[in-house]
This record gives sequence, C-alpha cells and structure tokens, in this order.
Amino acid sequence: MIPVSRPSIGERELRAVERVFSTGWLGMGSEVDRFEHMLCQFLEAGHAVAVCNGTGALFLALHAAGLGPGDEVLVPSLTYVASVQAITATGAVPVFCDIREEDLNIDLEDAKRRLTPRTRVILPVHFRGVPCDMDGVLDLASENGLRIVEDAAHAFGSFYGERRVGSFGDLTCFSFDPIKVITCGEGGAVVTSDPAIVELMQQKRILGIDRDTLSRYRNSRSWVYDVLTQGYRLHMSNINAAIGIVQLERFDELRESRSRIARAYDRGLSGMRRISLIPADYDRVSLFMYIVRVHEDRDGLMEFMKERGIGTGIHYIPAHTFSFYRRSGFRLPVTERVYEEMLTLPLYSDMTEKETLTVIDALEEWDRGRV
Ligand SMILES: Cc1ncc(COP(=O)(O)O)c(C=O)c1O
Repeated sequence: MIPVSRPSIGERELRAVERVFSTGWLGMGSEVDRFEHMLCQFLEAGHAVAVCNGTGALFLALHAAGLGPGDEVLVPSLTYVASVQAITATGAVPVFCDIREEDLNIDLEDAKRRLTPRTRVILPVHFRGVPCDMDGVLDLASENGLRIVEDAAHAFGSFYGERRVGSFGDLTCFSFDPIKVITCGEGGAVVTSDPAIVELMQQKRILGIDRDTLSRYRNSRSWVYDVLTQGYRLHMSNINAAIGIVQLERFDELRESRSRIARAYDRGLSGMRRISLIPADYDRVSLFMYIVRVHEDRDGLMEFMKERGIGTGIHYIPAHTFSFYRRSGFRLPVTERVYEEMLTLPLYSDMTEKETLTVIDALEEWDRGRV
C-alpha cells in the first residue's frame, strides 16, 4: 500500500532518543531549550515556546492573547478541526470564512464582511503549506485592531516574500505531528516577536508555575515556586525535542524531496481532463499536501485508487458542517464546492520515483476510462 503520508525517520532520530534515555531526564529539559533556540535561528524569529502538539500551540497562543467568552475569531472553515477547537476551548466563537479558489486560503473580502465589534482575532491557515496573503491579513488586522494568530501547522519553512512564515505577525503556531514536513513524533510551537507574551505562555504551558522553565532547561527542578495564573500541562518533552532537532537539521532534504514529487505530479497530471491542479511555487513553499480537484465522481476515484493499493485523503470536512458548529442556513459556497472535489494524493519525503509513477499511472488509467 502506498500511504497518503508517512514520517521520514531513521537511525539519527533513534540515536537522539537514546541519548535522552541515557540522561534519565525525559520530560521538559535542555533538549527543549535547544530545539527552541534552533527554531528561532531557522525562522529568524524572536522567541519560540515549544509545546506538546499544534492544537496546544493554538490554544496557548489564543489564550495568552487574552481571548475569552464573547470574543469572535475569523477563521476559514476549510481547516483541520484543531484550529476551531482551539478557539472554542477559550470560550470564544469561531466565525467561519470562505476560501479563495486559486490557493484554498482564506478569502479576505469574505472575512471583512464578517467583522463585528466583537471580532478580536484573525486566524489565517496557511493551507497545504502555501502562505496566505499576509499583506492583506496585516492590513485587515491593523485597520480593525485585531490580533493575528497564524495557523502554520502546514507551513513550516515556507517563505512569504523574503522571510519565512513565523518571522512576522503576532503569534505563529506550528505542528510537528508525525506526518508534518518535520516531526517531533508529537509536538508544536508558538513563535512570536512579542516578549511580553512569551513569559505568560511559558507559565501557562506548565501549570502557571513561575520559574519552572529556567530550572527545567538545566534538567533540574526548582522546589520553591509560586503559581501566578491558570495553567495547563502543554509542555514538550526532551524525547520529542530530540527528534525535532534531528528533523530540523534534515529540513532541506525533507522539503526538497516533497518539492521534487510535487513537480513530478504536476508534469504527469497536467493533461488530464477530469482532474485539475492547484499550482504552487515549490521553490519557496514547504508543501505539506498535494491536493487535486476531481471534477467527476471523486469518491469513485478514491475507491479506484484503493483497489490499486494507493491511499488518498480528503482534507478536510469543512468545520461549519459539523454538528457542534452547524448553524441552519449558513453556507460557504466556494468551500462547499471545493470540498466535493478535493482529493489528497500521497506525498511524503521518502516517497520513491516508482511510487510516484504508480500514482500517476493509476490516475491516467482512471482519467482515460472516463473519456
Ligand atoms: C491546519 C492544522 N491546524 C492545527 C493542527 C493541529 O496540530 P496537532 O495535530 O499537532 O495538534 C493540524 C494538524 O494536523 C492542522 O492540520
């Protein structure tokens, strides 16, 4: 079976975990400190707060930004439900926005129409790894006094203009779950240039304790401490950070192989009649998912691919259609149309040329059979 995604992990990651085992300090410690420093250097960002997953990063960022009941957050409906659950976990209300057909990112004109006096945050999602129109997001935010919390779970290492995602904006959240461009096994981080919020996030990630971060970074604990705020257990462990450090060192290799596969897909699929592509600049983007639009019987194609041993996926069910969020009569026309047609093809750094050709051949066979 060719899966939709798979982590690229091996001996180096294993040796890094072994080293952590040998120290006996498995929880938050010096590896987390090192990973955070490496993230800042790589992203050219001021500060990084590493946490246990991307959902935790989003929640922590929104919570530390002061979001609470009665506040509204502009968010695209086409995202993993984690983006939306992080909002509702603070008590705030997600206000679902439509997307742009050309890159499946938030449609800022639609977002503008949904502003109210209660709107506090815009949460753009860099879908597939392709950055949103951040100039437009920055303008909209400054004109309306909004904070920007970026969901960059898909976009680790992607460039917007001359800088990587995470080096501008208020708070940028990454995920390092098993299938992301780089993984920690499980992990996430909030990156920001705002020093005032860093200390609060450090406290909130570990039960509101005031001085735990510094002592833990030296693989020790302080026995005298105070609790200053409502906190959570969201910190990253040394085991996960050690994996992340190796993956970050391998970033170029991991990103470039994804770009190579995406280019091969673009070439192989460009002449198809029932499938259209959603182009991206693979030199500047860390592509997380390769999504095509299938203009006829998408679900039949999924079944066809499965019979040939090829996994495909649908990313994602639009959040505004879930029972928990549904409001009668609420529609997002572009999102709903795209959802019916979208199909995610296998894409992972260790994917071989042979596997890529197998996927292209199967799609060609299906497309020919339809003519
Ligand atoms: C867009 C988006 N946001 C947030 C998350 C949450 O990340 P995590 O799985 O690390 O909690 C994901 C994970 O897949 C995601 O795709």
